[in-house]
Amino acid sequence: MASIDYNERIPNNVDLAENRRLLRALEEWQPKFLEWWKDMGPEGFQAKEVYLRTAVSVDAKGWAQFDYTRMPEYRWGIFLAEPEPGRQINFGDHLGQPAWQEVPGEYRGTLRRLIVTQGDTEPASVEQQRHLGRTCPSLYDLRNLFQVNVEEGRHLWAMVYILDAHFGRDGREESEALLQRRSGDHDKPRILGAFNERTPDWLSFFMFCFFTDRDGKYQLASLAESGFDPLSRTCRFMLTEEAHHMFVGESGVGRIVQRACEIMREHKTDDVRRYGGVDLPTIQKYINFHCSVSLDLFGSEVSTNAANFYTMGLKGRFEETKKKDDHRLKDGTYTVATLAGDKIITREEGALVSLNERLRDDYIADCQRGVNRWNEIIKSHGVDFTLTLPHRGFRRAIGAFAEVKVSPDGRVISEAEWDAHHQEWLPTAEDEAYVGSLMQPVTEPGKMANWIAPPARGINSRPADFEYVRLG
Ligand SMILES: [Fe+2]
Ligand SMILES: [Fe+2]
Repeated sequence: MASIDYNERIPNNVDLAENRRLLRALEEWQPKFLEWWKDMGPEGFQAKEVYLRTAVSVDAKGWAQFDYTRMPEYRWGIFLAEPEPGRQINFGDHLGQPAWQEVPGEYRGTLRRLIVTQGDTEPASVEQQRHLGRTCPSLYDLRNLFQVNVEEGRHLWAMVYILDAHFGRDGREESEALLQRRSGDHDKPRILGAFNERTPDWLSFFMFCFFTDRDGKYQLASLAESGFDPLSRTCRFMLTEEAHHMFVGESGVGRIVQRACEIMREHKTDDVRRYGGVDLPTIQKYINFHCSVSLDLFGSEVSTNAANFYTMGLKGRFEETKKKDDHRLKDGTYTVATLAGDKIITREEGALVSLNERLRDDYIADCQRGVNRWNEIIKSHGVDFTLTLPHRGFRRAIGAFAEVKVSPDGRVISEAEWDAHHQEWLPTAEDEAYVGSLMQPVTEPGKMANWIAPPARGINSRPADFEYVRLG
């Protein structure tokens, strides 16, 4: 079903050849994308052959083919999930009407903003990660980094296709602007805060994949419910790629946790750093940082924007169609965490305005499942330590908790208490310098840096010493 035409300059399963105007727009954008990729993509490895997965069809089995590719030759393309015959709008004011195949005029600006905001995160993460190749802990990890990078590049293609196909001239302008903003740049930063943070080391990279990419998963899952069918179909296919990014994050942190536990057991010590590992308290600090940055991405707890996106039928809830309610939410309520003086309490808010918080709850539950699996690794080594997610109010810059200081265990605290303790909760300059000092490249096939355990299995059943990237 729906195989992808690789004979085209832009591989696609959307009959691009039949739409000359769109084809021309995308062919004009393609060299600019490649220029951006060469300027801002993985530094130092553009000419190397990487064992990459490429989509060849969009059905459940056939979308992954592995082969050696130089990254600038990766076949970025436009792949939408199969159309669902007779698909309807499943929530909001237009519930039960046929899904839109064209942009509904009255929601044009809102929809464009949603798509641009999602699209902006994709090249941003490539920019954030561009120096990591130089310090890879193994060829296996180097390959996974590049797989994530090319797929984020393809996600940018996915959003640009929607903009070019459905938003005419302003869509094309937005497509250009997506290549012009730069992560962390003062004058033209990326749109969302987390995507302007640095990703200076591999612990940060794995945390980013676990926490920040997972925000992406939840945003995409909500947009996959959209009444605007092309957006829904493109997001559904992006989610299949996103699963690998979650895996890279969870297994990466898990392997660092495992190595810490091995060192503790082998040397009967808590002083993991002495033996070149990352100690569990440091891992906890990185969790606190990356979790809090990512929680902000869901926006304010109470949000009329979120309500409008839903009522308009543009952005649904996570697993909207599996929920058994009226899918309009005009009368329902939802429990939201908020501040009352110096206490954190919960309060019932209208279900519609609470949709950001509901999505954040789904996200936190998903994060907690991953943290539980890390704790299983710790337990299986007989080590007495539990990793935890920080309270949702901790170190927030957006929403009800932005104005106060909250401890990781969820107490509103004074500035003085924050000043006295934040170094115990967040990575310090010393912690970062220590983690940075571990970042020495290991590029011999099958070898691992000392601070991370080997993966349980190879990519595509390849052996441990497989040459995932040909550096020769
Ligand atoms: Fe992505
Ligand atoms: Fe991703």
